[in-house]
Amino acid sequence: MRRTVIAGNWKMNFTPAEATEFIKVVKPLVAGKNKCDVIFCAPYVTIAAAQQAAKGSKIKIGAENVHFAEKGAYTGEVSAKMLTACGVEYVIIGHSERRQYFGETDETVNLRTKAALAAGMKVILCLGEVKEQRLSGITNEVVAMQTKLDLKDVTAEELKNIIIAYEPVWAIGTGLTATPEQAQETCHVIRETLAKLYGKKAANGVTIQYGGSMNEKNAAELLAKPDVDGGLIGGASLVPEKFAAIVDAAQ
Ligand code: PGA
Repeated sequence: MRRTVIAGNWKMNFTPAEATEFIKVVKPLVAGKNKCDVIFCAPYVTIAAAQQAAKGSKIKIGAENVHFAEKGAYTGEVSAKMLTACGVEYVIIGHSERRQYFGETDETVNLRTKAALAAGMKVILCLGEVKEQRLSGITNEVVAMQTKLDLKDVTAEELKNIIIAYEPVWAIGTGLTATPEQAQETCHVIRETLAKLYGKKAANGVTIQYGGSMNEKNAAELLAKPDVDGGLIGGASLVPEKFAAIVDAAQ
């Protein structure tokens, strides 16, 4: 059976000291919650402090992006080799904020994904439709296309290290959440697309998270859906009690 994964995406929040304090508070709240994995993806400069604070707990610390080259003239970027050298196992790739504000395309998402996998990392691959696409009734086509393009040339073996985060862009940071039915339907389309690419068995092994204003109030309903295997949490991952309540909902 696939793992349930509750991951926080801190985005551009938390200094090392703030992350240390946050982890100290959240650690006992998620201790012993063995029905799901817990990850916080942190800004690069905050990773080391968060890792130190998380020692001895089930909490894993990931990154929020990674470059596709191994090294070179890419000012401001960080390679997969650098992340693994720092003991970072998980990385978010293709978040809609990267796509919206930093020119990320399915092509660069695919390159980054392949580089992270080649370095032995586990990838939280984000995709999802924008509001106009949902209103036009083309959500299923959009997520199927993103799934195919973002995973181009990713092998069935490598797929085991992929978590997909379905995040409708209109729901991110807006307080608008997809209904459990919408989340289920779209996560199912993603799984069917994976089944076409890799076979049913491989597709059934992939954890598919929902993300987009998931919080302590709506998490249980969303997580109860058969194809929703976890959450990628932005705003609510900055408040220990809210995040812990989502982990509780996954038990
Ligand atoms: P949100 O962010 O929970 O604040 O909507 C989710 C995300 O961006 O991953």
